[in-house]
Amino acid sequence: MRIADRFQFRPVLPALAPEIHRLYLDSPTYFNLIGMEVPSLADVERELEVLEHDPRRRVSLLEQDGEVVGYLDYKLTYPEEGAATISLLLIRESLQGQGLGARALGELEARLRGQVERLFAVVYGDNPVARHFWSRQGFAHLRDSGPSLSWYVKSLA
Ligand code: ACO
Repeated sequence: MRIADRFQFRPVLPALAPEIHRLYLDSPTYFNLIGMEVPSLADVERELEVLEHDPRRRVSLLEQDGEVVGYLDYKLTYPEEGAATISLLLIRESLQGQGLGARALGELEARLRGQVERLFAVVYGDNPVARHFWSRQGFAHLRDSGPSLSWYVKSLA
């Protein structure tokens, strides 16, 4: 693999709010699907402030060749010791279906292996593409919490 082709997880800082907002604006279908408007820049800024007070949250911009291709939000030691939970993996809409989601997840699993035994993913709403994605990535459907929340899990041990 070329060095320039390397995938980067860039930890999110408040100054990156406009870049996250741009990514959201470029990916409206996901927000339509979960029944919400695309968050405003002020919403993103507020969310990043909240995040600063949660030492277990890990939020990254996913970059390839210096270009923002996606966003990843997960939480360590949640819902239990030895676990982590992904609440959102979002690939820029124009770049979906090209293997970037699978690649980001593979890199995350490599980083977490050894410190995390069980990796969870929580899917909101009726999202068949996401359900297909997590299953193809080796996650098992664990349970539904109400009509709009599905938990998936994969062992990293
Ligand atoms: N329609 C149907 N299948 C699709 C689509 C699509 N639009 N996009 C990806 N896939 C399938 C691929 O065909 C592939 O399946 P296969 O292995 O059977 O061929 C599989 O998903 C993996 O493909 P990737 O190219 O790696 O997926 P991608 O880069 O698009 O990432 C993701 C998948 C993250 C779901 C992306 O499509 C996305 O950002 N969607 C919108 C946001 C979203 O729903 N995120 C997940 C929310 S749940 C959570 O994060 C815990």
